[in-house]
Amino acid sequence: MVKDYEMPNDIRSWGVYVPEEAIERVAEVLKSGWINTGKHEKELRDLFRKKFLVAHCVAVNNGTAALRASYQMLGIGHGDEVVTTPYTFIATNTSLLEQGAIPVFADIRYGDLNVTAETIEEKLTSKTKAIVIVHYAGNPVDLDEIRALADSYNVPLIEDSAHAMGSKYKDSYIGQTGDLVTFSLQAVKIVTSGDGGIIATGREDYYERLQEISWYGINRDKKQTNLFLDSLPDDISVLGYKYNMNDITATIAISALDHFDIPLQKRKSIAETYRRELKDLKTIKLLEYYRDRTPNYQIFPIHVEGRERFARYMWDKKIQVGVNNRRNDKYSIFGRSKSGRMTPVLRDLPNLRLADEDTILLPIHFDIDNDTLDYIVDSVIQYDKLK
Ligand SMILES: Cc1ncc(COP(=O)(O)O)c(C=O)c1O
Repeated sequence: MVKDYEMPNDIRSWGVYVPEEAIERVAEVLKSGWINTGKHEKELRDLFRKKFLVAHCVAVNNGTAALRASYQMLGIGHGDEVVTTPYTFIATNTSLLEQGAIPVFADIRYGDLNVTAETIEEKLTSKTKAIVIVHYAGNPVDLDEIRALADSYNVPLIEDSAHAMGSKYKDSYIGQTGDLVTFSLQAVKIVTSGDGGIIATGREDYYERLQEISWYGINRDKKQTNLFLDSLPDDISVLGYKYNMNDITATIAISALDHFDIPLQKRKSIAETYRRELKDLKTIKLLEYYRDRTPNYQIFPIHVEGRERFARYMWDKKIQVGVNNRRNDKYSIFGRSKSGRMTPVLRDLPNLRLADEDTILLPIHFDIDNDTLDYIVDSVIQYDKLK
């Protein structure tokens, strides 16, 4: 068995973009004598706020911690139902389990793999404590409708935007709508610092509380301590965690954000080529993209007839395609039923069933040059002609 980090460098489905400049900047921080959370972490938050026009943000050590802190912040706890998407990386929903909450899965729309206001509403009950959505593949959900639904049921909306940094909905960056909006800076994300996370919010009280939750109940920006004797405040009244982002990570993230347009434009141009060249094939269906949204194309899923055959065909050509996520409800950690028996696969999610059987990712990242892109496109077209 080949380990994923030992995969051959054929044409990878994912890539890592780190600007050259990050190396020098990190070297400076390493030599500075302060690598813990400090001025660079603050600089990152300021940069993020200005770039994506969000009122407040908190930096944490990964996107899962961003979710967990958000759920904690909203008081989501034991036995609370949270209506969420089943088509996502499991972190969206395992962090609900960590809180003792119950993920209630809504169906997705086959065309864009996102939950909708209608599918969420079907699952809302008096026990619903929050709604969680994912802008899958960086392609935003129907945000106005879902925001209105959350308001009408008076439940908070969390946007897991791990895929959607820099995506736009109606000309606004993702980050300005949900009560809490979480981002990931994990290795293959469009902006990466190896690992890292950001939580954006419009509410100052949420921001203050999240600062506490992310570092042992202490807001580092505000703490006034007697450094001579004891670096912790006199009292700690909020249970917090070790979720803070250090200055090494923050420095890589700052460089990545400063150069954000480079991987973004590259992804856009690859996606435009795929959308133009692959739109009329028999066996391949592109996702639906909407005029009022601008995806960042974090990933490029397609629907394909005979997925396994397609995957073999592409891998033989040294093009790595793969399934990004499985429907989460198939995993027994999420299985539950009133009688106590496991119900691994929900039967009332027909679109999810279809998508889970035929969705696969085409490579999209900074290292794909024009020749490689032509080769991928030709290969997909050749596959389509086999039928
Ligand atoms: C949709 C989604 N949510 C959450 C996460 C978790 O982010 P992280 O790996 O930074 O913890 C990921 C990671 O890929 C993701 O894709």
